[in-house]
Amino acid sequence: MPASIPEKRLKLCLLASEIAPFAKTGGLADVSAALGRFLHERQHDVRLFLPLYRRVRAQHTLTPVEGLQEIGFRLGDRLVGCSVWRAQLPGSDCAVYCIDNREMFDGDSLYTGGRHDALRFLFFCRAVLEICQRMGFGPDVFHCNDWHTAMLPLLLKTDYAWDRLFHHSKTLLSIHNLGYQGLFSAEPLLARGLFSQPGLLHQEDLAAGRINFLKTGILFATGLSTVSRTYAREIQTAEYGVGLEGYLRLRDQDLYGIVNGVDYGDWDPAHDKLLPARYGPEDLQGKRICRDRLLQQMGLRAVHGRVPVLGVVTRLTPQKGLSLLFEPLPRFLRSRDMRVVVLGSGAASLEQDFRDLQGMFPGRVCYYQGYNNKLAHWIEAGSDIFLMPSLYEPCGLNQMYSLRYGTVPVVRRTGGLADTVEHFQARTRQGTGFVFEHFNSQGLTWALGTALEVFRFENIWHKLMLNGMRQDFSWQRQGPRYEWLYKKLMAGR
Ligand code: ADP
Ligand code: GLC
Repeated sequence: MPASIPEKRLKLCLLASEIAPFAKTGGLADVSAALGRFLHERQHDVRLFLPLYRRVRAQHTLTPVEGLQEIGFRLGDRLVGCSVWRAQLPGSDCAVYCIDNREMFDGDSLYTGGRHDALRFLFFCRAVLEICQRMGFGPDVFHCNDWHTAMLPLLLKTDYAWDRLFHHSKTLLSIHNLGYQGLFSAEPLLARGLFSQPGLLHQEDLAAGRINFLKTGILFATGLSTVSRTYAREIQTAEYGVGLEGYLRLRDQDLYGIVNGVDYGDWDPAHDKLLPARYGPEDLQGKRICRDRLLQQMGLRAVHGRVPVLGVVTRLTPQKGLSLLFEPLPRFLRSRDMRVVVLGSGAASLEQDFRDLQGMFPGRVCYYQGYNNKLAHWIEAGSDIFLMPSLYEPCGLNQMYSLRYGTVPVVRRTGGLADTVEHFQARTRQGTGFVFEHFNSQGLTWALGTALEVFRFENIWHKLMLNGMRQDFSWQRQGPRYEWLYKKLMAGR
């Protein structure tokens, strides 16, 4: 759909540790890519920045950016350097600038999980500012995402405060997940002179010997956003604030909840090239083909008649609440015919639990350990029910993908799940999924049990699927909220 031209062309610098399809471990990658694509379509001058990880170098076409090869700058007590390579967002001619420094980014994974990450992402933030300077690009807004880029607002107020190029620049910090804050031991970072004004860092943290990157961003960014309205409220409470609730309450007036969009260019069964068959609300034949191929591919017994297929695609972390599954699933599997397909990797204990479940129900449960984008699409299309019992969920994309694929989500009422899935009422036939309140297996048992009951009634289920398939969470709807917020920040609030 051609986007209309906005009145003012904004200059935007969007930096993230993940941008799909180049580097992805979760939803942040999908969101930064799709928002970049949307803003570019709206004809803003939006420039995306990403570390040049080894996998990006190995798998994508990159061209060196003239004038930005082997540039040098100071990082604390060291002189460091980087080169910039240009990649293109698929489906767009929006540029992604990949920052190349092998010592920092040439590892097997995006994150080391150790203290080297502090240096890597401080380097990244500085490199972005250095490159903007050399491009003569003074963004209206630097849009930072999560802890990896949360130090940029402080850098802008200290080491780069002298540069007139950035005098009007505002900063927006989007929080995609408060569970990851970038908490590091202060001493090694201070010893390397990485902070020119340590007096501006959080003094109690410093006294306790640590620096919290996300907290620093929360204190220094011009504006804050998170990825759903409900999560914006939740993170101001002790239950969900992970220790930062007080700081977020302090900045309540500057904190906005904007529900993520879905890139229907990638996630729509009507033209999803990864699927064995395509379908839409008018003709659901293809969904059955997707189900049969999925079961076959996963080595599960074929189904005849109304046998539900349950799907899970997820990182295996406590956030996703998967531990709740291990009571109701065996119970339902014993009492009725159904299939369960799980894709995910992460915590070893959860991986083992899913392997055990598969062992208990051979031919009916399949657990695929790993990361597999094509299989994620196949599960979205081939399942009837999608399980997402999250402990917390800033937004969540899979439930929105499920809705579009006619796969009914069973979710807990938290964060973005609460904002995007409406509990189905059989009486009025309104609603799009099954929503439970309390984080315990009774709650999930109730929601899943209700879903399985409704599934028996083909006509009602069909209506429920269509309710979901007709929802619109496109970036055409969600993206303008970011444009509004950028302008609000620029206007001085
Ligand atoms: P989060 O970012 O917390 O992991 P989201 O629901 O926002 O949760 O986004 C998850 C994204 O990552 C989705 O695009 C999902 O399909 C993808 N994903 C998660 N785990 C896997 C996996 N094991 N294989 C393929 N894709 C995955
Ligand atoms: C995070 C959250 C997820 C959200 C995603 C993109 O990884 O866990 O809920 O959808 O970021 O914003």
